[in-house]
Amino acid sequence: MLVLGIETSCDETGVALHHSERGLLAHALYTQAALHADYGGVVPELASRDHIRRVLPLTQDILRQAGCSLADLGAVAYTEGPGLAGALLVGASIAHGLAWALGVPVLGIHHLEGHLLSPLMVKPAPAFPFIALLVSGGHSQLMRVAGVGAYELLGETLDDAAGEAFDKTAQLLELGYPGGPALAKLAERGKPGRITLPRPMLHSGDLDFSFSGLKTAVMTQVKGRALGMQARADVAAEFQAAIVEVLVAKSLAALADTGLQQLVVAGGVGANRELRTRLTRAAERRGLQVFYPAPEFCTDNGAMIAFAAALRLTHASRLSPLASRSFSVRPRWDLATLVPA
Ligand code: KG4
Ligand code: ZN
Repeated sequence: MLVLGIETSCDETGVALHHSERGLLAHALYTQAALHADYGGVVPELASRDHIRRVLPLTQDILRQAGCSLADLGAVAYTEGPGLAGALLVGASIAHGLAWALGVPVLGIHHLEGHLLSPLMVKPAPAFPFIALLVSGGHSQLMRVAGVGAYELLGETLDDAAGEAFDKTAQLLELGYPGGPALAKLAERGKPGRITLPRPMLHSGDLDFSFSGLKTAVMTQVKGRALGMQARADVAAEFQAAIVEVLVAKSLAALADTGLQQLVVAGGVGANRELRTRLTRAAERRGLQVFYPAPEFCTDNGAMIAFAAALRLTHASRLSPLASRSFSVRPRWDLATLVPA
């Protein structure tokens, strides 16, 4: 079956075609970063309006690339939440409109389920159960994943998400928006340890995180000081080292607590090279395995939505309902409340 996936939860328009036997056939992404850059963050109304402009032309592009037509679609999937309400509504309304016109099922997918299952797109894929470290701009969570739709929350951030901390610290270092990748790049030229930042909650004895204090600690180090390029790079390197150390330690603790051997890493911060290097090294030493999606599928994309929908359709005991003329989105939606297909 051919599934079209549509992702519009924030500032990236992603579309993809996933075939149940042939895998990912085509995908396309349009990032709105330049649109929001002047504002230092995502402007929800601008985001919604831009998604409207992009979804259908991008869909036509990927259909052409894959040599398919709308008539070949067996289902349409979209991000139902969590995310910006207006942005989600664009994907939801287009998905329902298409599915209704084509007479095919429509599936609303949880954005974090998309992230969390994305490492399964890579071969060899981990087998259930495994631990997932979900680190994005809006979430930092450790989950025990027993199967598709069976997610148990083990720990999460008490304040800022890991990506949010990267972005806010990048702003303090005047690296623009979104700052995570720029901060990671600057950190390559710096030396951790030249300044000292805390490792928040490293020894808290639980699997929760807290990253807002780290950003405040950076602020007190840089405020009112004219830092040269090397000094800024050193701050970036120490910040990255601190966040990575905590993420690695808590991920290993989650594996030890549950007795599981496999870790998957998902979400935008999962693209961070230092995190990947440190995690892989620490895991190898303990005989554990770590799985990552391709870096392009760490950040928001349509492929993870089409893929999660395809998995749900494969596991479904009954076919999803055909599109009705009413629908809603869920700007706030707890991943642990999901149920298996
Ligand atoms: O998963 P994602 O695209 O969107 C959300 O669902 O939030 O994650 C975006 C976040 C941003 O905060 C961005 O700065 C961060 O992921 N990010 C990175 C890197 N690439 C993206 N953070 C650190 N290092 C990176 N290489
Ligand atoms: Zn995301």
